[in-house]
Amino acid sequence: MTKSEETFPLGVDSLLCAVGRHTEEQFGFLNPPLYKGSTIIHKTVKSLENHEGRFFYGIAGSPTIANLEDAWTKLTEAAGTVISPSGHGSIALAILSVISAGCHILVPESVFPPTAVFCNTFLSRLAVEVEYYDPLIGVGIEKLIKDNTVAIYMESPGSNTMEVQDVPAIVQIAKRNGLKTIIDNTWATPLFFKPHSFGVDLSIEAGTKYVGGHSDILLGLVTANEENWPALKSTYSCLGMLPGAEDCHMALRSLRTFRLRVREAERKALKIAKWLQRRDEVERVLHPAFEECPGHEYWARDFRGSTGLFSIILRPRYSRASLEHMLENMVIFSLGYSWGGYESLIVPLSEEVSERLKARNHYGYGLRLQIGLEDIEDLQKDLVLGFERLKSVI
Ligand SMILES: Cc1ncc(COP(=O)(O)O)c(C=O)c1O
Repeated sequence: MTKSEETFPLGVDSLLCAVGRHTEEQFGFLNPPLYKGSTIIHKTVKSLENHEGRFFYGIAGSPTIANLEDAWTKLTEAAGTVISPSGHGSIALAILSVISAGCHILVPESVFPPTAVFCNTFLSRLAVEVEYYDPLIGVGIEKLIKDNTVAIYMESPGSNTMEVQDVPAIVQIAKRNGLKTIIDNTWATPLFFKPHSFGVDLSIEAGTKYVGGHSDILLGLVTANEENWPALKSTYSCLGMLPGAEDCHMALRSLRTFRLRVREAERKALKIAKWLQRRDEVERVLHPAFEECPGHEYWARDFRGSTGLFSIILRPRYSRASLEHMLENMVIFSLGYSWGGYESLIVPLSEEVSERLKARNHYGYGLRLQIGLEDIEDLQKDLVLGFERLKSVI
């Protein structure tokens, strides 16, 4: 805690500058040092045997990891944070902290595909029944609850198809039925949606995205409210799923510019998305801030902003070969997974996602765009040239 935090409550920008550092204990150096290590030396046998001290062995964390945990706990207004080596790992951790063999959990159809792989493979070995629901189900979710249901998982907006969920309605149903709620909040970040203030028990952020912001680290953060913190913490301790100290150090550094980067990505993505809405090649823009995005009303009601990731559906008149010709020759947009970095990326939506879109009468190819920090005009020029290649018959 810095002097300013003790004197009066800080705004988000001031908080992002203050969190996770202890300048006075750091010989006046503004930024915290990087601690790496496994062994921690104890002065007495009693201290060694009783695991005394905040850090007794590397697997119990380090000041570097703790700085990021503390910073994230403040930002998310949670009871505590645990950090894993990837967003993917954090998803597994959060789910493992609430399930037991033979239980039933509800997961949205729009979930991040590797989450579904975890559910369909690892969880099925524990005889956990996983039922997928329409992300727009809202209060209708109550009908899916069974005697052995323990949790409702949410991801809002959903991966690729961007459906925004009615989180307050689902939380209310969950509480009434004694179920835990988990959300993957990576897209909104706590800057634009604070799950715990909506009553969600566990919230996941793939720190690989906007927290890292430079496409050079992998991290995942899970926060819990007071009631669910002990179970999350003990599951984490059992799994020994600690992140690398250097990635935490870099993430903490990136937090200082977190809001600046996210706001700029939001501004640029909104401009590009609006421009794409008017292009003849595009049938639909799936961006939560746009009315045509399923669940937009929940975004307008619950969120404080939008970020740089959205999808588009092309008109159903282009060939796969022209699509590849478009995507493989982009100048600024690169072909690559992940998002939330400074660079713009574009990827075609998978066949599985396309099948779900077909069920909604969208037959064109889908593309996911991650808008980075480049000039808007350059991104538009790149897309115009790309659309010309798309339209060239090959
Ligand atoms: C919504 C969402 N959650 C979680 C993850 C997983 O993050 P990581 O790449 O750190 O495993 C991703 C990655 O793309 C994602 O898009």
